[in-house]
Amino acid sequence: MRQNVEKGKTLLIDGPACITLSSGAMRVFGAQIKVGEHVIVRVGKRIPFEVMEDSQIEMLLGNSASCLLIDEDPIPQSWKEAVSTMLSSNKGTETIIVLGGVDSGKTSFCNYLANTALSLGRNVYLIDGDLGQSDVGPPGTVGLSIIKTPIVDPFNLKPDHVIFIGITSPYTAGKSIIEGLVDLKAKAIGMGSNFVIINTDGWVEGASAVEYKLHLIKMVKPDFIVAIQGNSELKPIIDSLSSLEAEVLIADVPKNIKKRDRETRKIIRESSYKKYLKDGKIHSYPLSWIAVDGNLELKGRNDQFLKKRLEEIVGNKIIYCENMRNQIILVLKSGSTLSDEENAKLNAEFKKPIRILREGDEKGLLVSLEDNKGRFLGIGTIYSVDYDRSVLKVYTNVNGPVSRVHVGRIRLDEKGNEVEVIVKSQ
Ligand SMILES: Nc1ncnc2c1ncn2[C@@H]1O[C@H](COP(=O)(O)OP(=O)(O)OP(=O)(O)O)[C@@H](O)[C@H]1O
Ligand SMILES: [Mg+2]
Repeated sequence: MRQNVEKGKTLLIDGPACITLSSGAMRVFGAQIKVGEHVIVRVGKRIPFEVMEDSQIEMLLGNSASCLLIDEDPIPQSWKEAVSTMLSSNKGTETIIVLGGVDSGKTSFCNYLANTALSLGRNVYLIDGDLGQSDVGPPGTVGLSIIKTPIVDPFNLKPDHVIFIGITSPYTAGKSIIEGLVDLKAKAIGMGSNFVIINTDGWVEGASAVEYKLHLIKMVKPDFIVAIQGNSELKPIIDSLSSLEAEVLIADVPKNIKKRDRETRKIIRESSYKKYLKDGKIHSYPLSWIAVDGNLELKGRNDQFLKKRLEEIVGNKIIYCENMRNQIILVLKSGSTLSDEENAKLNAEFKKPIRILREGDEKGLLVSLEDNKGRFLGIGTIYSVDYDRSVLKVYTNVNGPVSRVHVGRIRLDEKGNEVEVIVKSQ
């Protein structure tokens, strides 16, 4: 469908859709769209196109897509002021943390800030600390991307560094996320950035969220904090900050923001897992060659002596066991269980905690694959553990040598759909 749009208007497109600029000039959060450029608006996303000159566009609207022409400027005045304050700061190197609730516009603000800073010649690095609705890197990770061209959709950004956390929400992973973000900030500055933007997750309400965000700020030491709020949802965080810590800039939630329900958020995450698992194959890694840790720890040393002792207590249900420094790993045949009496006997016999797994429990768990320097190579999902041969089989598109497989708590099915996120240890 071809359409003429008038200068000064804003075209709000809800995906799935593809917009091509045939003539004229349009901008998305400060990024200029080139004539002939196709912009994909993903499912669950809304992109506001600012019409800078009378333009002609070609629109392909998918199922459930929509299009609305409005008279408003999509960029709130408070966003323009905050961006201009940060860009006229004369510190030389700025680190900015963007805070806001779920669907407050954090990602869009980061894009607008990055695009504006880039147009003024700053060395912009974007760090993404949102595990669930991640923009840089797959879900369950924190990532860093060097911004070389204006961002229209951060989904297309190539991650330059990724740190795997392995879960989609920050509630139980605060410490690892903060360590990851501190590390990524140091990397960004070390690689020559003078404008580091850090996006965060939308968990801002309640005592634990406030504590987490305050700790994050303390450790990351930003120069500016952008607080995007509709009412005063960030007040408890802002009130606890001292003015010496960082300059706080308050920004509004844009009026035409598109809110997403849980299901849509899951669909968005799944499209990201699929992107990072694309063209995968099953790779086999002997357990003695790699370190396997995180939500599943295995060294590949099936302990026959220990197995005999265990079998005396629980009978012929054990397929694998390992005596680790701080725990015993006991893998039972699929479908077997232990009675209360057997559990009690085990606990009485052994001084260490016993982690009981069942053959197949590992299937579908999201993992990161790392090289011998601890660098993230990509993600994968566990296909199986061959306990007889001590081999881990992973579906991944990583091809080079792998030294470590870090196992997360997200389980995907074979198509890359999220089956569950395991909150507690199995
Ligand atoms: N000014 C605006 N006008 C129209 N749509 C907007 C505007 N700002 C943001 N949006 C759209 O609203 C949706 C939510 O915004 P955004 O993704 O920036 O929020 P967020 O706080 O990062 O959300 P999340 O909590 O999921 O990370 C997106 O589809 C975005 O493109
Ligand atoms: Mg976001």
